[in-house]
Amino acid sequence: MITPRLQMIIDLVSEKTIADIGTDHAYIPIKLASMGQIEKAIATDKNEGPLKIAEENVFRYGLSDKVSLRLGSGLDPINEGECELLIIAGMGGKLIGDIIEDNLSKSKSFKLLLQPMNAQAELRKRLINLGFKITKESLSCEGFKVYNAFCCERGKQKLPEEKFLHIPLELSCNKYYNMLVDKKIRELNKIIKGLENAKTPDYSEIDYYKNLLGKIENMNQKGL
Ligand SMILES: C[S@@+](CC[C@H](N)C(=O)[O-])C[C@H]1O[C@@H](n2cnc3c(N)ncnc32)[C@H](O)[C@@H]1O
Repeated sequence: MITPRLQMIIDLVSEKTIADIGTDHAYIPIKLASMGQIEKAIATDKNEGPLKIAEENVFRYGLSDKVSLRLGSGLDPINEGECELLIIAGMGGKLIGDIIEDNLSKSKSFKLLLQPMNAQAELRKRLINLGFKITKESLSCEGFKVYNAFCCERGKQKLPEEKFLHIPLELSCNKYYNMLVDKKIRELNKIIKGLENAKTPDYSEIDYYKNLLGKIENMNQKGL
């Protein structure tokens, strides 16, 4: 039930009260509450089906006094400052950014733990531009798949060089760092191939991605 991706998220939680936005099965709050790591969790989902399953799981584990369930989209079901940490995991980076930006001042009343499935660099950039600072980065691995998670909170941060938005410097000592670099190289090669095969290739865009690819190819343990 607790995959390495979910375990990575759980390991990043040090707060006692959390909300899990888009909880689906509610595995994250259930694990945290059953270990006694948190005092209270709010598990939300915008869809009734997943929330029903979450409710059944919470009941089955006897955690109904600790994990409450709420139906609603994004941060709508949560009040400002109602808990210390918001978790938004397992969704695309664009959707996570939209959920945060749609309720920006409310979002800034929490610490955030985010686990985007794609568009990680775009999400980091968007959050820094919205007035958040990234405080922690982590990686996990399932087979050949590598997953990112990061924590952020209200604050100022200088926008890093673009290659570090994709491959954060903090991850250079992580055991899955080289897998992350390889994944990004594969993604960029795919983008370049797609652009080159277009009917009217945009050569400035191709140059941009080739330049980024060159920088990321040098980002092995020695070439930071
Ligand atoms: C792929 S699951 C991820 C579940 C869990 N967070 C995880 O990391 O394993 C995405 C869940 O987010 C819910 N969801 C999608 N958009 C949402 C939104 N705007 N607000 C709340 N929940 C949303 C979906 O209904 C679904 O249950």
